Amino acid sequence: MHIDVITIFPDFFSSALDCSMLARARQAEALAVEVHDLRNWAADKHHVVDDYPYGGGAGMVMKPEPLILAVEDLLSEAGPDCPVILLTPQGQQFDQAKAEQLAKQEQLILICGHYEGVDERVRQSVVTEELSIGDYILTGGEPAALVVIEAVARLLPGVLGNPASLESESFGSGLLEYPHYTRPAQWRGMSVPEVLLSGHHQKIRRWRHKEALRRTRERRPELLEQLELTEEARELLAELEAECDQD
Ligand code: ADE
Repeated sequence: MHIDVITIFPDFFSSALDCSMLARARQAEALAVEVHDLRNWAADKHHVVDDYPYGGGAGMVMKPEPLILAVEDLLSEAGPDCPVILLTPQGQQFDQAKAEQLAKQEQLILICGHYEGVDERVRQSVVTEELSIGDYILTGGEPAALVVIEAVARLLPGVLGNPASLESESFGSGLLEYPHYTRPAQWRGMSVPEVLLSGHHQKIRRWRHKEALRRTRERRPELLEQLELTEEARELLAELEAECDQD
């Protein structure tokens, strides 16, 4: 996958792209990220990319010309079907399903907004979708773009050593993850649940499924409502209900 990022802070991405999974994904050529400085498309000698809002008010607005020219240039390479995504708190909430959908694309263009926002004509003419990473306001779209790149890159074929881990993790199955333990089996009076030491794979699998359901039920009950429950999940939820009734 090829991802183009348009930003006024290209340095923001350097260390993140050179670290951990993103560095490996790039080295394996599963992912290429090109970070473009928006100021390269600003026509004036000071490379101005923002201006005062028509109608007055606080803050600055990102000018339409540099952004639209940048996207048009990148689209001439990428082809007209490439998604052009504006990171903004006004966008659709980014989630695992969206990451999976984007991971199927060959190329993405990400625009990092700044200041009070971008001139509306950028949306009208080149943006195909808008994504938010949550209901809070960042100073710019750069951290949001990194979140999208991270979540998408790890889904690309060949990036994770063990693809099975994708299926068991939170949201992959629609449930939050069960609790994990490693050695030592005892630490300051806290012990690892017996079943995990038993070597009994079937019991371990069932325990994990139940704990994933417990966590989801306690912390994110709305996720359970969106799931088609298996026979076993229904049984385990009934057990959890019964445990609660005893308390
Ligand atoms: N830009 C500023 N805040 C943002 C958010 N929450 N998500 C995506 N882009 C943003």
